[in-house]
Amino acid sequence: MSLAAIVLCAGNGTRMKSNLPKVLHEIGSFPLIHHVMTTTCQLDVSKTIVVVGHQAEEVSKAAISFDENVVIVEQKEQLGTGHAVREAMPELLEHTGNVIILYGDVPFISSSTIKKMIEKKNIGSDIVIAGFKAQHPGAYGRIVLENEKIIKIIEAKDATKDELENNLCNSGIILSNSRNLHDLTKLLKNENANEEFYLTDIIEIANNQGQICSLVLCPEMETLGVNTRLELSKAETLFQKATRENCMNNGVTLASPENTIFSLDTHIGRDTWIGHNVVFGPGVTIESEATIKSFCHLEKCHVGSRAKIGPFARLRPGTEIGNSSQVGNFVEIKNSSVGEDSKINHLSYIGDTNIGNTVNIGAGTITCNYDGVNKHKTVIENGTFIGSNSSLIAPLNIGSDVIIGAGSVITENVPKNSLGIARARQKNKIGLGQKIMRKLRGLRYSSTGK
Ligand code: UD1
Ligand code: MG
Repeated sequence: MSLAAIVLCAGNGTRMKSNLPKVLHEIGSFPLIHHVMTTTCQLDVSKTIVVVGHQAEEVSKAAISFDENVVIVEQKEQLGTGHAVREAMPELLEHTGNVIILYGDVPFISSSTIKKMIEKKNIGSDIVIAGFKAQHPGAYGRIVLENEKIIKIIEAKDATKDELENNLCNSGIILSNSRNLHDLTKLLKNENANEEFYLTDIIEIANNQGQICSLVLCPEMETLGVNTRLELSKAETLFQKATRENCMNNGVTLASPENTIFSLDTHIGRDTWIGHNVVFGPGVTIESEATIKSFCHLEKCHVGSRAKIGPFARLRPGTEIGNSSQVGNFVEIKNSSVGEDSKINHLSYIGDTNIGNTVNIGAGTITCNYDGVNKHKTVIENGTFIGSNSSLIAPLNIGSDVIIGAGSVITENVPKNSLGIARARQKNKIGLGQKIMRKLRGLRYSSTGK
């Protein structure tokens, strides 16, 4: 039976106290909504509907940037979670299968929990809810169970003191079939403390119709709702911890796991070694047996097998480092490719450049790629040696097996096998150094009166 998903993202997230819509706040360098959509991808969902409202344009853009086939539904007035689902239902009139309702602000729900919910529904339930035992139940809705069936969910704001003692909480994740959701959400009323149409009220209505509502228990971590900055930081901590563990379980050594920062899409190959205080921004892939030494910052780049990066290196977007190449301390590389077995070991800036294989870039080399208006390309071919402290003024093509003399300012192309040198000639004036020094010392002695 095919599965559709509704992701609720219309709420205004008042408790975040932010100009940014809540679901666009980031965990692991990606907006909350992308975490939820990553889960729907793992479930092979046939249709995903994202309900937007507050700052609809920004939220829609973020959803479409993840999946261009997503269907956007605008909930013009945010009248509650039940109302949001009701607004999405016309998009599912043709859909005869199940619908999973996800919340844009509950980013960690796993595909395995949802699969368990589908199994539970298949063996005789009409509605299945993911619940959890909360350490601090706070503002979560409380699930009331009788004979292992859910008979109602009470929102914290509407609960009595006794009801608040119950720590079995609603994650918000609900599964039912499309027709049933359509009919139940039509019956919702807004007679509660918030005067909202609560999705959770469908449980009581379904029970009154003799339907079976079941529970799938899942780990509390999966159900963390992000409503405040504090919860956002807790979510980030949990995400980092889980990602580090996953990484180590897949054969990567982290010298200092608690100081390694990952993004949602970081990929690291087996037997790669990561030093202390390394930050992986979005879009980073590191192949196997590479070494990323301490204090490196990488984003949108690819590092080949057995390459060595850092310490203190910065790889910016569009960087491709070939197998077994080395990038050392205080080197910044942007929008450039480096072939195999090449070395850029100290204090260099490489921008908009293609470097071949077995190239050596001396300390302090700068590719001058920007003329103040436009960016220009540099090409350095295989086997070339760039002497230290050279400025390479782009656009520039330096052929293969070239030597560039240290301290050169290279403004013209250098043909293969050549020596390119562009610096003032040295003159030695015999004896003049000593003469000047004596004079200077004499002056100093006389000015102090000695
Ligand atoms: C909701 C549940 C609560 C559960 C908790 C889990 C209800 C009534 N309550 O409470 O039982 O324990 O989640 O995190 O469902 N939204 C809309 N349109 C609206 C209102 C909300 O799209 O009109 C969206 C929000 O953007 C958010 C999600 O629905 O992504 C949940 O809304 P929120 O206001 O955060 O509900 P909670 O108070 O957390
Ligand atoms: Mg919430």
